[in-house]
Amino acid sequence: MSPCPIPPKPASRPEKTSRLRQILLFRRDIFTSQPERLYRAKMAEFKTLFFHSYLINQPDLIHTVLKERPEDFPKSGVISSSLKDLLGNAVFVTNGATWKRQRRMIDPAFEGGRLRETFDAMVAAGETAIARINISNTPEPIEIEEETSHLAADVIFRTLFSLPITHRDANAVFQEFRAYQRSQPLLNLASFLPVPGWMPRIFNREAGRSARRIRALLSALTEARAIEISRGSAPDDLATKIMTTRDPASGTCFEAAEMVDQVAIFFLAGHETSASALAWALYLLASDPDTQLRAAREAQRVLGTGRPRFSDVRRLGFIRDVWRETLRLYPPVPMMLRETTRPERFRNRAIRRGAQIVISPWHLHRHPDLWHRPDHFDPGRWQRDEARENASTAWIPFSTGPRVCTGAGFAMVEGVLLLAMLLRAFEFRAVPGQVPVPVAHLTVRARDGIHLKIRPRGADTGT
Ligand code: HEM
Repeated sequence: MSPCPIPPKPASRPEKTSRLRQILLFRRDIFTSQPERLYRAKMAEFKTLFFHSYLINQPDLIHTVLKERPEDFPKSGVISSSLKDLLGNAVFVTNGATWKRQRRMIDPAFEGGRLRETFDAMVAAGETAIARINISNTPEPIEIEEETSHLAADVIFRTLFSLPITHRDANAVFQEFRAYQRSQPLLNLASFLPVPGWMPRIFNREAGRSARRIRALLSALTEARAIEISRGSAPDDLATKIMTTRDPASGTCFEAAEMVDQVAIFFLAGHETSASALAWALYLLASDPDTQLRAAREAQRVLGTGRPRFSDVRRLGFIRDVWRETLRLYPPVPMMLRETTRPERFRNRAIRRGAQIVISPWHLHRHPDLWHRPDHFDPGRWQRDEARENASTAWIPFSTGPRVCTGAGFAMVEGVLLLAMLLRAFEFRAVPGQVPVPVAHLTVRARDGIHLKIRPRGADTGT
């Protein structure tokens, strides 16, 4: 067995950096704008020109904010104009009674039994990705983030609208979303912080146009589905389930425009996050051949040569540990933002009303007081006490409390299944000298992509 490798971690800024430089770094990438001491801090205070924020990195404080008193710490009302153009009043950005109503209507679509029903669509997307990689059959490295984005978008479209990504409308949304990301160099956490209104507008006019085009496409899909539902010919997928669920409190369903908001967040949150984690998982395995071989053997043993079944996922224990460890090291949503609604006292420090509270899975998951050798890739830790103790308090890739990710169960099946299918089909190898640099956009991505060599896996893996 090779020793646990240390995967890439972005450089931190020097402790003494001018205020202006800090702001410039922050706008470019939030990781490199932070000092190294944040990884060891329990709480840190930041004052910039535009906002006053506190990063909390202590499990009991995070518990207070996300689980004990979430209503005292709503999501900040400020998001960049182009994100608002894309998401409208989606469940991801609302608060209070609006948010509660939205969750009452969305949550039933993700209950345990429904997950089983989405499984075939996930398998079909995995098979299509494997065929796509096989056709490209090149000895040259492949940019794997691009591939996992395609795959995760395919999963979302198949589960939400019963459409493969090759379908004209689904593909149009996917392509337009890529244009949105390209025209949105500032699509990072700064989008969620209260910077002056003029700032995002100047930079993001093209992103705003792109967002409106995406919404127009999603509106057309949603309207078509509403017609199918009224005729009784709609497929039984997530879109139909969400559109036909009545809020038990008010007896109402989503209006058409509200539904477009929800579809937009499902597409964004549901594919960007899984794509990011899948790409990092493949990179971690490519850099650690022994662990990859162990995972591939498990995939071959459990899946055999046939089509994966839902019951197989439970038996892919080691691959699940690889997935958890990837979500620890590269949590796709690296930081979450909340706002105080009244004066608070944290760690004996007075916090005024309206301050930003930053909860950072990125820092929490690498805290040396909580994790043994926190920067090491070590899936084995998930079978040790350390991880079992931390699983519900210091590992929050899906957040926690009432605002926990609606797709958490979905993503835990999707990630494990797709990794197993890909590892059964291919061997992944890192390219010497090409080390990806993590940057925080809306999700954690690699600055210049992740390039891996891929070849069909021989039958020599053994079982
Ligand atoms: C590895 C995959 C995923 C990760 C790591 C992830 C992570 C997260 C996190 C951390 C949040 C909370 C953000 C915050 O409070 O600021 C969130 C919210 C959300 N996620 Fe996910 N997510 C993933 C996959 C998915 C999928 C597959 C879907 C849907 C199919 C989804 C739908 C949502 C929605 C709708 C919310 C908003 C929930 C609310 O605010 O009440 N996510 N996700």
